[in-house]
Amino acid sequence: MYRTHQNSDLTINHLDNHVILSGWVQKVRNKGFIIWVDLRDRYGITQLVFDEERTPKDVFDKANSLNREFVIKVEGKVIERESKNLQIPTGEIEVLVENFEILNESKLPPFTIETETDGGDELRMKYRYLDIRREPVKDKLIFRSQVSMAVRNYLSERNFVEVETPYLIKSTPEGARDFIVPSRMNKGQFYALPQSPQTFKQLLMVGGLERYFQIVKCFRDEDLRADRQPEFTQIDCEMSFVNLEDILQTFEGLTKHLIQTTHNIEIEDFPRMTFDDAMKTYGNDKPDIRFGMKFGELNDVAKHKNFKIFDEAELVVGIAIPGCASYSRKEIDKLINWVKRPQVGAKGMVYVKCNEDGSFKSSVDKFYTQEDLQSWAEKTGAKPGDLIAVLSGDTNSTRAQLSALRMEMAERLGLRKSNEFAPLWVVDFPLLEWDEDTQRYHAMHHPFTSPKAEDEALLETSPGEVRANAYDLVLNGNEIGGGSIRIHDKTMQSRMLELLGFSKEEAQNQFGFLMNAFEYGAPPHGGIAFGLDRLVAILGGQETIRDFIAFPKNNMGRDVMIDAPATLDEEQLKELSLKLDIEE
Ligand code: AMO
Repeated sequence: MYRTHQNSDLTINHLDNHVILSGWVQKVRNKGFIIWVDLRDRYGITQLVFDEERTPKDVFDKANSLNREFVIKVEGKVIERESKNLQIPTGEIEVLVENFEILNESKLPPFTIETETDGGDELRMKYRYLDIRREPVKDKLIFRSQVSMAVRNYLSERNFVEVETPYLIKSTPEGARDFIVPSRMNKGQFYALPQSPQTFKQLLMVGGLERYFQIVKCFRDEDLRADRQPEFTQIDCEMSFVNLEDILQTFEGLTKHLIQTTHNIEIEDFPRMTFDDAMKTYGNDKPDIRFGMKFGELNDVAKHKNFKIFDEAELVVGIAIPGCASYSRKEIDKLINWVKRPQVGAKGMVYVKCNEDGSFKSSVDKFYTQEDLQSWAEKTGAKPGDLIAVLSGDTNSTRAQLSALRMEMAERLGLRKSNEFAPLWVVDFPLLEWDEDTQRYHAMHHPFTSPKAEDEALLETSPGEVRANAYDLVLNGNEIGGGSIRIHDKTMQSRMLELLGFSKEEAQNQFGFLMNAFEYGAPPHGGIAFGLDRLVAILGGQETIRDFIAFPKNNMGRDVMIDAPATLDEEQLKELSLKLDIEE
C-alpha cells in the first residue's frame, strides 16, 4: 500500500493516527539533530519530521540522504506541530516518521519546483514534466479539465452527441495555412490536418444527428501570439433546424453556465453589438467592454479649422483617458512615442488636458478655441481630470491604432480586471472581405456561411456590402468563439464559391463532397466553435493560453522538450517519395 491518505488530508483531527504517505520531497531542512521534509503529491503538502531522539537510528541516518524530488513512501504518526502554518490545510500537524522507503531517486532538478520558481521560460518548457509538478501549473491543467467536463455535461444533457471526426483530411480553406502529412501509400499525395472540423460537422447534420459537439484538436500554420498555438482545441458544435437566435441562446447559456460554475458569478443577458458599431465605438471587432473609453469621432468638430493634418484625414477620433490630465510633458511624450512604435503605427497624437477647473490645454491650442475643445470633450465623454488622446488618418488604421492605445491605457490603469467578466455577441459581420493583394473577395468567416436573407440581392450588385449570418462571442477583449448559420443549398453554395473566385472545376474538386451531400436533403443548420484554450485561460484570469496547455509550443512553433519539428532520415524521405531542396 502506497498511501492511507493524500498529502492534503491530515489535520489536527488525525492526531496519533498511524498513516502511510507517498510523494515527492519538495524541501529538506536539516538541522543536524532534526530533519524536516515537505512531502508533496498532487493534492498538497505534508510536513514530515525525522528526529534523532524519536526516530529509529537507521531510519534517521537514511533520512540524511534525502534530496529534492526523491520519491518516497513514509510511515509514521500524526503529531501536533510546534510552530503552526495556518496557510495550508495540513499546517497544524506533522508526521513523525517511523520508517520510509525511497521509491526512486532524483537528479537535482534544474529549477526549484515550488510556487515561486527560479526557472526561466525556456528551461521550464524543456523540463515541462517538472514544471507540471508546480502548483500553479498543475492547478491550471486541473482547471482546464473541470471546464471541459462542465462543457461535456452541459451539452450532453441537452442532447448533443459527441462525435470524432478525422484528423487526416483534405484542406479546408479557413484563412490559415494547413499542416501537411505526406501519404506513403499514395505517393505524391498529401493529407492536411484540419484547421477545424467545419465540413465534417455539416455532413453530420446531413447525416441527421441534429446536435453535435466535439472537444477537438485543430491545426493552423500561422504566426503565433499569446492567444494562438499551432495546435489548439475547439469546443466545436453544430445544430440542425435552428435559426441564429436559437444558436445564440444555446451558447450564451453554456457560457453563463461556465462562468457560474467556475466563479459563482451570475451574468445578465449578453449585449449584442453589430460589427459596424464595434468598429466605430471600439475600433475593434472584439471589444473589451469591462471599461469605457469609447471612441468619440471628431470629424464634425475638428476639421476645417486650419489644422492641416486633421483636414486631410479621413477620420479624426479620440478617447478620454480617465484621470490622466495630470500627466507631465515627459509622460505624454512617452505616450506619443508609444503610439508611434511600428507595432502601433500612428504618425502622431494630439492631446487635450481637461483641467479640473473646466478649462482645456491642448497640443493644438493654436487652431482650436476652448469651445472647440469643449465639444471634443463632449464627443469623447471626457470629464475634468481626463486626458483626451486624438489620432487621425485613414479610417481602418486609425481605429486600429486608437484601439491599441485604449487597451494599453486600460492595462496600465488596472481597468482590465481578471475577475470581472464582460461577454458580448458581435453580429452582422460582412460576408466578404476585399483583398487588395489578390484582387478578390475572401470569406470573412468561411465559405459556408450564409448571407443575411435581406442582403441576398446585393450579392449581384455590391457583394462587399452583404452582411453574414455570422457571430462572434467576445469575452474581455478576446474572441473566444465564432460561428454562423450555414448555406444548406447547393445553388447558393456554388454561387458563393464563384464569388470567392473558385472556378467550377476547383469548386467541384475541393467541395464536391459537400455540394453532393447538399443534394440529399440537407437540413437548415448552423453552429459555433469556441477556442477552449482561450476560454479556459480567460476564466482562469489570464490571456496567455500556453500556461493552460500541458505541452505547448514556443513562439517558433517548437516543442523544446521533445525537440520537434525535426529532420527525417534519408530512408523515411525515400519511403515518402520526398526530396528536400533546402539551401544551407
Ligand atoms: P474560427 O476560425 O473563428 O471558427 O475558430 C473558432 C475559435 O477558435 C479559437 N482559435 C484559436 N485558439 C488558439 N490558437 C489558434 N491558433 C486559434 N485559432 C482560432 C478562437 C476562435 O474564436 N469552423 C469555424 C467555427 C464555426 O463556424 O462553427 C471556426 O473554426 O477562439
